[in-house]
Amino acid sequence: MESSSHSAYDVLVVGSGAAGLSLALRLADRYRIGLLSKVSLPESNTLYAQGGISAVVDEHDSIESHIQDTLIAGAGLCDPDIVRLVVSEGKSCIQWLLDHGVPFTEVINESGTAHLHLTREGGHTHRRVVHAADATGRAIETSLEHHARRHPGIQILEHHNVIDLITANKLGLPGKRVFGAYALDTQSHRVKTLPAKVVALATGGASKVYLYTSNPDVSTGDGVALAWRAGAQVANMEFIQFHPTCLYHPHARSFLISEAVRGEGGKLILPDGTPFMHKFDPRGELAPRDIVARAIDHEMKRLGIDCVYLDISHQPADFIINHFPTIHARCLELGIDMTRQAIPVVPAAHYVCGGVLTNNYARTDVDGLYALGETACTGLHGANRMASNSLLECLVFAKQAAEHIAGGLAALPAPPPLPEWDESQVSDSDEEVVVSHNWDEIRRFMWDYVGIVRTNKRLERAMHRVDLLKQEIAEYYGHFRVTSDLLELRNLVTVAELIIRSARQRQESRGLHYSLDYPWCEPDSRAENTVLEP
Ligand code: FAD
Ligand code: SIN
Repeated sequence: MESSSHSAYDVLVVGSGAAGLSLALRLADRYRIGLLSKVSLPESNTLYAQGGISAVVDEHDSIESHIQDTLIAGAGLCDPDIVRLVVSEGKSCIQWLLDHGVPFTEVINESGTAHLHLTREGGHTHRRVVHAADATGRAIETSLEHHARRHPGIQILEHHNVIDLITANKLGLPGKRVFGAYALDTQSHRVKTLPAKVVALATGGASKVYLYTSNPDVSTGDGVALAWRAGAQVANMEFIQFHPTCLYHPHARSFLISEAVRGEGGKLILPDGTPFMHKFDPRGELAPRDIVARAIDHEMKRLGIDCVYLDISHQPADFIINHFPTIHARCLELGIDMTRQAIPVVPAAHYVCGGVLTNNYARTDVDGLYALGETACTGLHGANRMASNSLLECLVFAKQAAEHIAGGLAALPAPPPLPEWDESQVSDSDEEVVVSHNWDEIRRFMWDYVGIVRTNKRLERAMHRVDLLKQEIAEYYGHFRVTSDLLELRNLVTVAELIIRSARQRQESRGLHYSLDYPWCEPDSRAENTVLEP
């Protein structure tokens, strides 16, 4: 495999979802930006987002109400200053998206003027979710992609999988600083050296560490693992959000049934048609996700059933088709007519609330390294993210990071000469089966032992397996040429370890972390973040 070195970027943005694209676009008029994506540019969690973006745009809503709802969902662990910052920026971020041509759904009011249609999701006490029918992420991703592809300041590197960050420590220099990254070009099979004054990780989620997930294949937690290996702090990794309603069908992988279906009146029922959410929470179907997912898990285990059902068939057919064209079409392809039938659903891993610890400008504790979007832990979500707050967080922290980077970039020195990737000690793998077997094993034991309901014993079992796999993967990595599957596997095992270590540290149940050994959270106990030091 050959290697090659690029001339230095001002900012290397790793990831081209909502967070990476917005950061690149906000900086590109003034700086030289490298924008990397592991596969084709649009493929990301963002592309599949359905429900929408929460923002206070309705005159009857208020910033205080959005803040309160976010704090309640976060179960005592949100950073109130960050919540206020993000919520206060909601309206201007929606305007920024409109200025970039995002076609949000509108309605015409009685006086004949068009305004944004707002839907409702769990935890929100108002209708405040701005959306583009039920394919909001696609509308955002493709609109921003359109601008990024035409911007002369952005060099797009698709199919480039970042292997590792290049740090002062690796170069034998003093300080905690990043100087660029090594990336595998998966089409030419060359490893490139990419020097940069600043690196911003916008690599998205890690839910592929679980067997069942709503996420696409790119979500392997690379940003968290890259930052961890570069010496950055990671926080709150035990808080994994399981979305209550993913489609349960043998031919549908990872298809989400948006929470907006419940927001528009969808009811959760058992196979015999009995509703059950009222037994678990007075907010019923619109309780925060941790409560709804646990309730479904409880009913499935109690009755030994494979799924529950989501029924919105009491609404008029044209209402359903207008509001949920994508979900309606996909279900119909699979023989489920949601205008007449209930949809079979199960919970699946959906979102990682923890991540690389950052401040209000998306800075990590490594100089020159920023993290934003799902890969970061900003303090917004606390122990449980409220629906549709994630895309908002991507946009607000892109703005914050852009401001901070622009303020400091002129004073930063160019990176020193960087060594090329060294392959002199490795050969082509003769046992790819090791990689695919370990992928499956991690995802299965994480689902079985580190899922919606945890115990000390299960966490201990999972940790034992991680220890064995870590050793095997490190050995394999040391001997063979890198491939995307191997790089992702190496990152997945790190993410699994961080989740388990964090879960073992939290000796209480709070938000998304529920343990049968500590089923309560003392009402007056101080909420603490779980911060891991590399
Ligand atoms: P992503 O959009 O996931 O982008 C990650 C990028 O990083 C990709 O370009 C990928 O190629 C790149 N990348 C990763 N690793 C590497 C590497 N090693 N090298 C190079 N590039 C790399 N949130 C809401 O607020 N509202 C919703 O309605 C909503 N609906 C959702 C529906 C679904 C089905 C899913 C899965 C999530 C949903 N979410 C929603 C969550 C939200 O979509 C994500 O949290 C958000 O889009 C994350 O954006 P991001 O920019 O951080 O990462
Ligand atoms: C959904 O549409 O249910 C997903 C919303 C989210 O994850 O914020």
